[in-house]
Amino acid sequence: MKPIISASILSADFSRLGDEVRSVLKAGADWIHFDVMDNHYVPNLTIGPLVCEALRKDGVTAPIDVHLMVSPVDRLVGDFAKAGATGISFHPEATGHVDRTIQLIRDSGCSPGLVLNPATPVNWLDYVIEKLDLILVMSVNPGFAGQKFIPSALQKLADVRKRIAACGKDIHLEVDGGIKVENAAEVARAGANAIVSGSAIFGSQDYTATVAAMRRQIEAGAGR
Ligand code: DX5
Ligand code: ZN
Repeated sequence: MKPIISASILSADFSRLGDEVRSVLKAGADWIHFDVMDNHYVPNLTIGPLVCEALRKDGVTAPIDVHLMVSPVDRLVGDFAKAGATGISFHPEATGHVDRTIQLIRDSGCSPGLVLNPATPVNWLDYVIEKLDLILVMSVNPGFAGQKFIPSALQKLADVRKRIAACGKDIHLEVDGGIKVENAAEVARAGANAIVSGSAIFGSQDYTATVAAMRRQIEAGAGR
């Protein structure tokens, strides 16, 4: 699958969000990663559907990769679909009925994704994997940008990649948390084809150079 760089706007300058999104897309990012936190499922509070809608109204046409770190999940699905989300990913522990939430996302016209925290077992994928378009492996505990990569994510990526191969469907395998140019090859080698990166891109002087370097690393890791 094509390597994807999903730029997490959590580390963007929110006072100039439209400009930041345009710059990072111009710099070569493929998707905009949109972190939604509720001060309940995770100990932080960020942005909601109004901001997603504002980006669409501002002319952003790139995929918006919504990462819901909220509980409950279901009530927000329709709001994000209406606001222009492309994919909606959620944490299985945050909802009462995982299969129902996946279906709700699909029925709302968005691509469903399931997110596995560092201590969340991969068997949450049992019985539902074929209904997913994306699996997101967290390589930090969700809630904050700029945390250190947790190395057990590498084994989990490899395990999930095997499950994707066994199910035979093209499902994106995304990794989120502590990804920089220096470890992008390693996560790609473990099986990720999509990487989320926030502080490493938005904290750099030259977004274009950083995104290009990450892409080269992902391609090297994937053996291309
Ligand atoms: C963390 C978020 C991440 C975060 C990643 O809970 O889900 O998307 O923005 O930030 P970095 O790339 O700085 O680790
Ligand atoms: Zn995220």
